[in-house]
Amino acid sequence: MKKSYNIAVIPGDGTGPEVVAEGVKVLKAVAGVENISLHFTNYDFGGERYLKTGETLPEGAIDELKKHDAIFLGAIGHPDVKPGILEKGILLALRFELDQYINLRPIKLYPNVETPLKDKGPEHIDYIVVRENSGDVYTGIGGVTMKGTPHEEAMQIMIYNRFQVERCLRYAFEYARKRNKRKTLALVGKTNVLTYVYDLWERAFHEIGQKEYPDIKRDYYHVDATCMWMVKNPEWFDVLVTGNMFGDIITDLGAMTQGGMGIAAGGNINPEGVSMFEPIGGSAPKYTGKNVINPLAAICAAQMMMEHLGEEKTAARIEKGVIDVLQRDMKSLAAGKMGLTTTQVGDKVAEYAVS
Ligand code: IPM
Ligand code: MN
Repeated sequence: MKKSYNIAVIPGDGTGPEVVAEGVKVLKAVAGVENISLHFTNYDFGGERYLKTGETLPEGAIDELKKHDAIFLGAIGHPDVKPGILEKGILLALRFELDQYINLRPIKLYPNVETPLKDKGPEHIDYIVVRENSGDVYTGIGGVTMKGTPHEEAMQIMIYNRFQVERCLRYAFEYARKRNKRKTLALVGKTNVLTYVYDLWERAFHEIGQKEYPDIKRDYYHVDATCMWMVKNPEWFDVLVTGNMFGDIITDLGAMTQGGMGIAAGGNINPEGVSMFEPIGGSAPKYTGKNVINPLAAICAAQMMMEHLGEEKTAARIEKGVIDVLQRDMKSLAAGKMGLTTTQVGDKVAEYAVS
């Protein structure tokens, strides 16, 4: 029987709609040959809507999104809206309310893509970061006193509970097992300073690893050292697991080593619920409407979405399309320097993916 999926699409702000259109184009093309049917429903959440209505996520939005099999997101962020409002009101709200407690970010360098890392190639840069996505300083717990005075005091608290840490670690161990490459999970922390929070992570890591995943090798790195090794010896890594804030930071570094924001994608995963896939770069407002932005990150997000839905052949086709366009057509991954327009990149990937 033909499998059918309902996909909620949130094109969002800036270049979001342009890259999402290419992702949808590629998805439609591959769905045709893999005999699955995809139904897309668009939602206009984003900065424009907020400026018009004063609303970030409208009443009922979460329940509506929960009816879908997955969410495909472009970008949230508008130059006329104060930083924090759309991020908290839309992106983080979706992640939290849908309990997408994993942020999965592959760092994979494809052939023919330039990396700033000297003497490193695709054989060295192929790992994945499992970023916890529900806790940490992201919960917004904190406050400010004496604001505007010389004694102003501000705090924002790093919080993790055992439950959050355990479910994230189990996901990461399972991932390392399923990936079946080096069968190594490395915890990224800061046990030398954050002696409460990362001590909790470290104890849970070894307890769970020892009892439930004896086949997976365990490593530990401090987050600062991780940045060093991500540049110097990325080939050491297989699967990394870390908290929300460190995960946010190290995955931007990782993205640069795999060719930049033009290609970096991520998945906000709720293994028991609705997951959301997105290019991890922002809305890039200065390129809006110019047909110059690189859609590959959104296309790679679409690939992750298909893989998550269990459509591995469809996902493999999309990846082949991406690899081929990089090999044959693209001069660069940077906006305006690709040698192709946004829509041409989408056309080519769609063509190669089905051939
Ligand atoms: C990301 C982004 C977000 C984050 C921002 C926009 C809230 O940087 O997806 O990595 O910090 O998680
Ligand atoms: Mn980020």
